[in-house]
Amino acid sequence: MRKGILTIAAVGLLATGGLTACSDDSGTGSADSKKTPKIGVILPDSKSSPRWETADRRFLEEAFKTAGVKYDIQNAQNDKAAFQTIADQMITGGVTALMIVNLDSGTGKAVLDKAKSQGVATIDYDRLTLGGSAQYYVSFDNETVGKLQGEGLAKCLTDKGAKNPVVAYLNGSPTDNNATLFKAGYDSVLKPKFDAKEYTKGPDDAVPGWDGPTAATIFEQQLTATKGKIDGVLAANDTLGNAAISILKKNKINGKVPVTGQDASVEGLQNILAGDQCMTVYKAVREEAKAAADLAIALAKGEKKETGQTVKDPEGGRDVPSVLLTPKAIYKDNVKDVVADGYVTKEQLCTGTYAKLCGEAGIS
Ligand code: BGC
Repeated sequence: MRKGILTIAAVGLLATGGLTACSDDSGTGSADSKKTPKIGVILPDSKSSPRWETADRRFLEEAFKTAGVKYDIQNAQNDKAAFQTIADQMITGGVTALMIVNLDSGTGKAVLDKAKSQGVATIDYDRLTLGGSAQYYVSFDNETVGKLQGEGLAKCLTDKGAKNPVVAYLNGSPTDNNATLFKAGYDSVLKPKFDAKEYTKGPDDAVPGWDGPTAATIFEQQLTATKGKIDGVLAANDTLGNAAISILKKNKINGKVPVTGQDASVEGLQNILAGDQCMTVYKAVREEAKAAADLAIALAKGEKKETGQTVKDPEGGRDVPSVLLTPKAIYKDNVKDVVADGYVTKEQLCTGTYAKLCGEAGIS
């Protein structure tokens, strides 16, 4: 309890400084000139996708170091209570801007509202917090991500000569607004095919927390329920895709059933090279991190930047100023582009049996 009072007192002191910054809406940033910008970032976990630790942390650090600003990047490891504790510590620790990848909109909103009340600038990074109060949202065009997945699966099914294929869905976490957008994207491609009876809609399940082991269990149940009659898997990211592939391998039908993905993870790209995964979606996280860092730095200095674009928060009804970057579909023939972009290295990708496959895919 005593600790709580001390924390509140410390926050109160900071709030005074923060409010000064807040009242400086003139865009001159002069009231902030005495405050040293410091950016806090809370990443969601390190299992739902390797991207958070291997790409986002790395590229955010790169951007902050280049700009010469102080920063503190932490990972909540899929723990909502830890997420809030980290946010509290960052706010009392004097961050001038806070960037979050929420674990769900409820806790995300609580953190954003608290930061705002303390005069700390806020950014939704990658995931929009529904009903939240972030000043900016930086992400990719997530419906397009889903569209690329739907088109990718259709292309791979055609390549395999599939007739009236049964398509199963492994959707992302129900608490992630991105998962909703991805699904809207792939539904826009696949639903017309279901309606036209060109494809048959198979099982359709969400994977809580984007958890790989849970996805494997769910996919095994999907295969059992359909008596093994699944011809294509729309998996919303590489972690879920790899889970499906592990079960297809167990049943010795890997490579016959196209599986999609997202994130261009080393594992996903290796699955593509091996012919077990149809495609992935590459999102240039370096650009996402740079865009978010630029905004966070501007906000920390009390400046306002125009993004030229907004996204409607369907829950809060707000038009949130946004930066939305363009995703890219990756198949076996352009895996090399991801390496050329410096997202993964040849050393990471072309290990063991993948060395030969890398050579065949023109990765040198
Ligand atoms: C991100 C994906 C990621 C997933 C699981 C989504 O919000 O946009 O890139 O694979 O979360 O971490």
